[in-house]
Amino acid sequence: MSHETQPVLFSGIQPSGHLTIGHYAGALRNWVRLQHEYDCLFCIVDLHAITVRQDPATFAERCLSFAAQYIAVGIDPQASTIFLQSHVPAHTELTWLLNCNAYVGELSRMTQFKAKTQGKTDKTIGVGLFDYPVLMAADILLYQTQLVPVGADQKQHLELTRDIAIRMNHHYGPLFTVPEGFFPEVGARIMSLQDPANKMSKSDPNANNYVALLDSPETMRKKIRRAVTDATPGITYEPDARPGVANLLNIYGAFTGESPAALAERYADKGNAALKHDLAEVIVEALQPFQQRYHDLMTNRDYLVALLRQGAQSAQQRALPTLRATYERMGFLPA
Ligand code: TRP
Repeated sequence: MSHETQPVLFSGIQPSGHLTIGHYAGALRNWVRLQHEYDCLFCIVDLHAITVRQDPATFAERCLSFAAQYIAVGIDPQASTIFLQSHVPAHTELTWLLNCNAYVGELSRMTQFKAKTQGKTDKTIGVGLFDYPVLMAADILLYQTQLVPVGADQKQHLELTRDIAIRMNHHYGPLFTVPEGFFPEVGARIMSLQDPANKMSKSDPNANNYVALLDSPETMRKKIRRAVTDATPGITYEPDARPGVANLLNIYGAFTGESPAALAERYADKGNAALKHDLAEVIVEALQPFQQRYHDLMTNRDYLVALLRQGAQSAQQRALPTLRATYERMGFLPA
């Protein structure tokens, strides 16, 4: 099927911290599956990442590494558009036009903004953090995106995107497709290994909370071995009563395709140690080819840089008609 007739899909991840098995199970693997049914744009949202100060010396390298990980996991740069957000100036341009159609009230209600600024004073809260969801709206609306696969924590940002799109379509005539979110099932949510009440996060200061896709096999084994469980003998799948064990079963199932309940039955008479041992091996083995491809790609940096340049050119070209139409409908004199 040619891309022209396929619905447009857009998603992105911030190049901060380390991509984890949570991204693998909750996002990247779905992207790989969806890339032949949709016309996909997969972005490395580097402009979003600087809402938290980044070390300039490592930032560029991390962006390149994320691109290599997208490809190593199976996103085909021939089938999908892979690019860095900062390489496509249309994103920041549209952000300004959307900013003038978004309200302080609606941005102040964003729970992620409230969570990230809790306990801070206005003097230390960056404007970028506040405006973050408008940049995200620009990412999505520029491409007439129909489908946006994101984590449940992004639901509110997507609602805002829809509100802005509907508002501007109303004021200026139809400009934007109103996008739909696509949220992973609850079981696909992978939680922190030490604190299973919270989502596994790539920027967690405690590296024992996550398994990074690029962790060495030894590190992976060690982290799984140390994961929090409980003292109840045997294995059962009880997400509320036994969140640590349930999380391990969810991860296991995410990698093998088995249901966590069926896995619990299989391990019923065994202990946490046996479950952890086998789970670690499952993860190590599943990620071995990924890591191999990743390291091969990173030795061929010119190829990666060229791919990103190509992706950005294609994205900018696709974004321009929507950007120009927005300027025009708002009454700007054409350049
Ligand atoms: N805010 C998203 C997150 O933290 C990342 C993101 C930025 C994004 N722009 C996007 C996701 C556009 C989907 C579409 O997960």
